[in-house]
Amino acid sequence: MTTAGKLSKIIDLGLEMNQVKDLDILLDRILSEARKFVNADAGSIYIRRRDKLEFSYTQNATLQKSLPPGKKLIYSSFTVPINNLSIAGYVAGNGVLLNIQDAYRLPEDAPYSFSHDFDKMSKYRTQSILTIPLTTKRNEVIGVLQLINAKNRKGEVVAFQKSMEPMILHFASIAANAIERANMTRSIILRTIEMARLRDPKETGAHVQRVASYSVAIYEVWAMQRSIPPRDVERDKDILKIAAMLHDVGKVAIPDIILKKPDKLNDREFETMKQHTWLGAKLFSETFSEYDEASAIIAMNHHERWDGSGYPGFIDPETGRPILGFEVSPGKARGRKSEEIPPFGRIVAIADVYDALSSSRSYKDAWDEDRILETMRMEAGRHFDPEMIDAFFFSLDVVHNIKERIPDTD
Ligand code: C2E
Ligand code: SIN
Ligand code: SIN
Ligand code: SIN
Ligand code: FE
Ligand code: FE
Repeated sequence: MTTAGKLSKIIDLGLEMNQVKDLDILLDRILSEARKFVNADAGSIYIRRRDKLEFSYTQNATLQKSLPPGKKLIYSSFTVPINNLSIAGYVAGNGVLLNIQDAYRLPEDAPYSFSHDFDKMSKYRTQSILTIPLTTKRNEVIGVLQLINAKNRKGEVVAFQKSMEPMILHFASIAANAIERANMTRSIILRTIEMARLRDPKETGAHVQRVASYSVAIYEVWAMQRSIPPRDVERDKDILKIAAMLHDVGKVAIPDIILKKPDKLNDREFETMKQHTWLGAKLFSETFSEYDEASAIIAMNHHERWDGSGYPGFIDPETGRPILGFEVSPGKARGRKSEEIPPFGRIVAIADVYDALSSSRSYKDAWDEDRILETMRMEAGRHFDPEMIDAFFFSLDVVHNIKERIPDTD
């Protein structure tokens, strides 16, 4: 690609990145594109939280190749202090790019050292490393982008070309601004949920983030098995992630006495509770974007069941009344069944029940994992879409990793 070609590609990428609303999905995107740009085998992104860098996302083509199709690399998060002792810390602290030819032969006078831990653990050989600060317009370093092992046309590991540095710095500044924006979106949503939580203490940020992350994990596998084009998957998983976080917002309209009841609900109370589905959908009925539309669909459909015995069924969210022709008893609508339930509804149902059973409530204990998985399996074809349950079990290692990464904080 020519320099002009690369520059115009960066501009397009900038426009695209600014459309991505979810932070995790944005990091995935930034890393893929940056790696393509300089033909890097691997890479990671660190995000700054106060005076530390948090290892937030990683990709590695070589290690990925050793996994079966659709499986993901599982990594654990760790933090690095921002000081001159590590490569990422040095780059964040000084706001400068660092282009290292060989991690195992650093200059004698370098203040930083290379941590061999990752290579030892994964049997990977890191050689060339290009580490770039993610600096926003306001000159704030919000993280670090690290690209590992540039490859030449023959697939041999080489140094990162010095001539690429200005371009990648430019890319990094666009990425930094997109990250800042996604962070803002996330905090607005989490604040909305925090508001709901003032009313309903069990409606936690951690819970909604887990449900949303599980949903994306299931969707990715399901979409791959259905050969949905990767471009559509990229877009849809961002929409799903945001909308799934809002699945229960309709609970803000449920009276305190029911919402906060420390015991089992009686039948009448449960009937009221069921309204959180269409009440949530109603909040998004003025659809301004695909995000609003998906949020309405998920709020409406996350308690439908594959066998048709779920709720609320064919209800008009504006009135809460059954849609003409679907009334089965006074005020009650027929439940949606199987493919009548939109895919996002079927996915969030699985994620929500898995997380609900994993959590304790004032009126029930958390279940142990074996019992939960047995139930999830047994409910395939009853509560849940069997294909999606297969996708859920396929991504179980990712699900467990999410559970560890997003613990309940209080
Ligand atoms: P939730 O806590 O988010 O639960 C989501 C779904 O997970 C439930 O939908 C149900 O399908 C499943 N689930 C959760 N806990 C259990 C459990 O202990 N056993 C079984 N078999 N399934 C479980 P569901 O039943 O439609 O409930 C919707 C929401 O209504 C719940 O959301 C919760 O906020 C509330 N709720 C349901 N039952 C009670 C209750 O007995 N007491 C109180 N205070 N709230 C309840
Ligand atoms: C909630 O906290 O009310 C949602 C429960 C869950 O889905 O785990
Ligand atoms: C149930 O379906 O058993 C009630 C759900 C809950 O306890 O949250
Ligand atoms: C469900 O999938 O319906 C929740 C678990 C259960 O009912 O046993
Ligand atoms: Fe719900
Ligand atoms: Fe929920």
